[in-house]
Amino acid sequence: MEFSTKSIAPGLSKTACAVVGVYESRKLSAPAIALDRVARGALTKALKSGDMEGRAGATMLLHGVANTACERVLLVGLGAEKSFNEKAYRNAVAVALRAIHATGAVDAELHLTSLAAGASDIGWRIAQAATLAIESTYRFEQMKSKSDKPAAALKRLVLAHAAADARRAAKALAQGVALGHGMSFAKDLGNLPGNVCTPTYLANQAQALARRYKLKIKVLNRPEMQKLGMGTLLSVARGSAEPPKLIVLEYHGGPKNQKPVALVGKGVTFDTGGTSLKPAGEMDEMKFDMSGAGSVLGTLRAVAEMKLPINVVGIIPATENMPGSRATKPGDIVKSMSGQTVEILNTDAEGRLILCDALTYAERYQPSAVIDIATLTGACVIALGHVVSGLFANDDALAKEVLAAGEAAQDRAWHLPLHDEYQEQLKSNFADFANIGGRPAGAVTAACYLSRFAKKFKWVHLDIAGTAWKSGREKGSTGRPVPLLTQFLVNRAATK
Ligand code: BES
Ligand code: MN
Ligand code: ZN
Repeated sequence: MEFSTKSIAPGLSKTACAVVGVYESRKLSAPAIALDRVARGALTKALKSGDMEGRAGATMLLHGVANTACERVLLVGLGAEKSFNEKAYRNAVAVALRAIHATGAVDAELHLTSLAAGASDIGWRIAQAATLAIESTYRFEQMKSKSDKPAAALKRLVLAHAAADARRAAKALAQGVALGHGMSFAKDLGNLPGNVCTPTYLANQAQALARRYKLKIKVLNRPEMQKLGMGTLLSVARGSAEPPKLIVLEYHGGPKNQKPVALVGKGVTFDTGGTSLKPAGEMDEMKFDMSGAGSVLGTLRAVAEMKLPINVVGIIPATENMPGSRATKPGDIVKSMSGQTVEILNTDAEGRLILCDALTYAERYQPSAVIDIATLTGACVIALGHVVSGLFANDDALAKEVLAAGEAAQDRAWHLPLHDEYQEQLKSNFADFANIGGRPAGAVTAACYLSRFAKKFKWVHLDIAGTAWKSGREKGSTGRPVPLLTQFLVNRAATK
C-alpha cells in the first residue's frame, strides 16, 4: 500500500472513500462538519434517518454524496466524545479500515487522524494509523497453494493533518510504516512452521536483513559455541539434528562510542519439551517459541528502516528443543558460559538455558541496557493472560522506561516482582542451582534464573508467552512486542 500525508479539506478532493467520524450521539466531528457543509447537509440528513448514532464500532457507508468529490463517504462511530482516548482512536481506525476493505475502494482519505484523542499528538495518530493499515492487510499465505482471500483492493491511503503539521506528519508516517514492516516480518517468522523456520532459516533471514540494511552480522555455529563454553545453550540443542545458531546483529546508527542497547531474543524454533516431552494437545503452537527472536529481527528491521540515530545489537540463540537419543536428561548437570553450573531438572525449561548464555555473551558489548524477550513460561499466561507481557527488571528506572514505551505504543507490559525470597526455589543439592523452581510463581522463578546472568548490566526481561501469538480461530503471530521495543528505541534515540 502507498501512504501519504496531506493537509486537505474533506469532500473537495477526488477519492474513492472519505472517512470521517461521528461521536455519540449523532454529533459530527470537525472534519465531518466540514464535509457536511460541502455536501449541503447530506450527512446530517443521513444521520437523521436513524441508522447511525455514532456508537464505537458502528459504520455507515454513503454512496454518491452530491456536491462532493467522493465516490463514497464512510461514517465511523467514535463513541462518547469525552471518552475518545488513544485506545478508542485505534479501535475507530481499525473499524474504518475493515469497512474500507469491505467496499473494494482502491484509495481512501482518512480524516480520523485530525481528531483529538486522549493526550495524543498528530504524529502519534498518523503513525498508529499507518501501522494499523499495514496490519489490516497482513496475510500469511506463503504455505498455501492458492490464496484464500483476495488481497485488499486498497492501494493508496491518504492521512489527513492540519497545514501546520506537515513536517511532523511526514516523519510520523515513515515511522509508522517502518514499524508495520517490522511487525509483518516478525509475524511471518512466527507463522512459518518449524520444518521451514529452523535455526538455519532464522540465520539466513538475519543475513538477508543485514545485507539489505548494511548491518554487521556474525553467526556462530556449534564448535564456536563450544569454544566459548556455552554449555547450557548446547545442552538444549543436543537432542536435535538441526544445527543450533547464535545470531549476532549490530546496527550502528548512533555515535561510534555510544554503548548499544542489546536485545536478546529466545529462538526456540520448535519446543517439544525435549526428554520432558510436552503433551500432544496444541503442541503445534510451539512453533511460535521463536517469537522473541522474531521480535528482535522485526525491531531491527523497523529501526534500520527509520534510520534511528542509536546503536543496537541483537543476539539470538536459536535451536530446536527435541527429545533425540543424545538429548539432555532430567538430572543432567551442565556448565554455562558464565561458569555457573545448572542441574536441568526439566528439559522443557529450555528457554532460560539458551538465554543465559546469550546474556553472558552480551557482556562483551558493555551494553547501556539489555532487554531479553522470550515466550518463557506458561505460568506467565496464567498470571496475565493475553493482554500484557510480563516485565521483570534489576533496575527500576529501566523498568519504567520500558513500561512507558509499552503504554505509548499500546503494546503494554506489567511489572512483576523479583524479590530475593523467590531465588530460594532454584536451590539444587548437586549443582550451583536448578533450572526450575516448582509450580508457585513459575514466571518469577524463570526470571530469577535469568537474573543470575544479568549482574553486569541494567536488564529487563519480557515474558511474552501470552502476547506473542493468538490461539483458536485467529491462530497466528501478533508481531508483539515489536511496537514496545521500537518505541523504546525511538524514545532513547530522541533523548540521547
Ligand atoms: N515455551 C514454553 C513456554 C510456553 C508454554 C509458552 C505455553 C506459551 C505457552 C517454555 O519453554 C516451557 O515449556 N516452559 C515450561 C517451564 C516449566 C517446565 C518450569 C512451562 O511453562 O510449562
Ligand atoms: Mn519448553
Ligand atoms: Zn520454550
